[in-house]
Amino acid sequence: MVEDSKLDQAVAALRAGGLVAFPTETVYGLGADASNPVAVRRIFEVKERPATHPLIVHLADAVQLANWAREVPEHARRLARRFWPGPLTVILKRARGVSDVVTGGQDTVAVRVPSHPLALQLLARFGGGVAAPSANRHGRVSATTAEHVRREFGAAVDCVLDGGATQIGIESTIVDCSGGGAALLRPGWITGREIEAALGAPLAAPPPEAPRAPGMLAAHYAPRTPLALAEGERAAELAEEHARRGRRVAVLALSARRPPLEGLEWIAAPRDAAGYAHALYASLRRLDDSGCETIVVEQPPRGPEWAAINDRLARAAAGSSGPDAT
Ligand code: TXA
Ligand code: MG
Repeated sequence: MVEDSKLDQAVAALRAGGLVAFPTETVYGLGADASNPVAVRRIFEVKERPATHPLIVHLADAVQLANWAREVPEHARRLARRFWPGPLTVILKRARGVSDVVTGGQDTVAVRVPSHPLALQLLARFGGGVAAPSANRHGRVSATTAEHVRREFGAAVDCVLDGGATQIGIESTIVDCSGGGAALLRPGWITGREIEAALGAPLAAPPPEAPRAPGMLAAHYAPRTPLALAEGERAAELAEEHARRGRRVAVLALSARRPPLEGLEWIAAPRDAAGYAHALYASLRRLDDSGCETIVVEQPPRGPEWAAINDRLARAAAGSSGPDAT
């Protein structure tokens, strides 16, 4: 339970140009008044995020869309009706006056109405749009608890609303509706199939000159420790091989059996996709903090409900080994 006074404090911080971290149903966001470029710029400083990476504007309800988008095509309205409040972000042509700081200088804007009650209370009381990326340092694992946010940013954030662990655990599905069709830019808990069912039409391929979604860079969502993906029992074998070479290793397992090794950091992940997604980032953070030299993740199944999870894991594996992981 967050008291009224805490919400008042958060709203006052937003109005004063401060930063407020808040829970959404996906991950925690690091928010600022989207109509205040100076405040939004602070998000980029604190996150160490490149200025060209646009932010999502969070709204209390779809009625406010008109303030942010100059055109809302019927297919975007359909998606909003079906999935808002919820873990869906739509990209639309931006309205006049939407700051370049929010959009990274693009002619489009990302908007979403989250479903977490605390996020909705904050947005309703504030009354305007709150620009918020995931509350993690650039390129790193998103925060799914208030504790993660505090550890990552400390006093740089003016107010942290603590809503406990976020329910879904991975970031929203992003659909680009700024062109003729609807294109999936980032897979999320709402699957491509569900989007197509709501549209009554197939998703379009993202155009080659698609609006940049830098969250789609190969190197993203990465722990600091090098991370490798391995199929089934191979995960346990790989852990043994590392251990034999005297390397400290941590494993995020699914079905693999734990080998009898001393000092092995081992997490058995939930076997269902919802449970897995919910626990994923907290597990990666724990393994990352364990002081090991390598993280081995057992490859999850490849069904549609695992698509967003596999997307994030593939990026974490790419990000932890490459020089791009900043
Ligand atoms: O679940 C979520 O979406 C969380 C919560 C806090 O809402 N937010 C989140 O924000 O994941 P962030 O900034 O970590 O990721 C937003 C993604 C980035 O990949 C960004 O490049 C993309 O959205 N994006 C934002 N505006 C865009 C635009 N105008 N065109 C294309 N991509 C855009
Ligand atoms: Mg992010």
